[in-house]
Amino acid sequence: MTITKAVIPAAGLGTRFLPASKAIPKELLPVVDTPALEYVVREAAAAGLTNVLLVAGKTKGAILDHFDRAWDLEAILQAKGDTVRLEAIRESANLAKVHAVRQAAPLGLGHAVLCAREHIDGEPFAVLLGDDLIDQRDPLLPTMMAVQDRLGGSVVALMEVPRDQISLYGSAAAQPVPDQALDGLGIGPETVFALSRPVEKPSPEEAPSNLAIIGRYVLHPAVFGILEQTPPGRGGEIQLTDALATLAGRPPTQGGGLYGVVFRGRRYDTGDRLSYLQAVVQLAVDHPELGPAFANWLQGFAATLPASRQGG
Ligand code: UTP
Repeated sequence: MTITKAVIPAAGLGTRFLPASKAIPKELLPVVDTPALEYVVREAAAAGLTNVLLVAGKTKGAILDHFDRAWDLEAILQAKGDTVRLEAIRESANLAKVHAVRQAAPLGLGHAVLCAREHIDGEPFAVLLGDDLIDQRDPLLPTMMAVQDRLGGSVVALMEVPRDQISLYGSAAAQPVPDQALDGLGIGPETVFALSRPVEKPSPEEAPSNLAIIGRYVLHPAVFGILEQTPPGRGGEIQLTDALATLAGRPPTQGGGLYGVVFRGRRYDTGDRLSYLQAVVQLAVDHPELGPAFANWLQGFAATLPASRQGG
């Protein structure tokens, strides 16, 4: 079945980003010159997911405005003959068919996904976290969708991390899927795993593996019935990982089965201040217009930093 729908949760409180995220969601903070969320919608559209549901909180209006036409601004840019910026603001309105639903209270990522239930109509769908950027040069979703199509069930994205960082993520026990089960998909070895025992933010000692679940999922719609029954878990929030644990233990006839695709490309986490700054610098260096001048300045600036700071 062709997957066409993407759900993008962007209704979290963003407490790690306060005060910047007091009146606007962290997902609208600029990464160079474009809101983080626009990169994510672009990624969905590039993977053929042209029906996008944004799960928004109290800032739903601002989020939707970004993906809508801005007639007044367009008229001003048109009158000035500023075609480059005109194109840029039009592009975000033309990327996909963007809808939004409000998550009345930030009860957790699992609850945010549950808010999409009415929109999904019983088919598999993708979830992309709005503060997690995957570099467009390293496409991940097409592989995940091909794996879901072949194996059924649900598929999450995984990233190898040092053990001492695993407690920042969800993790799961992983068994390689035999290569012949993936024949013809063009996926390299040691990339697709059957997962069991997913757990949210485990301590390094309890972690079932060093594979971290990152912010891309292709979910079987059976997840909704499970989420409805999932009580608040870690941090008092309804955790998507807890619902994944139920899916992993279910037979395929009931929408069960959980797989992971290991991602080895470029990813930028914009959800906390340090990784956000790193994302901005990395993407600014690669920016076609700003990159050369910025990289030049950055090299000079880095050379002025005292050694003690460089080590920190
Ligand atoms: P995070 O845990 O990174 O977001 O959720 P947060 O809760 O906003 O962050 P802090 O810890 O307070 O700084 C991952 C993604 O899930 C969304 C967030 O917006 C983010 O994109 N989310 C989280 C929701 O949409 N609703 C929620 O209730 C929780």
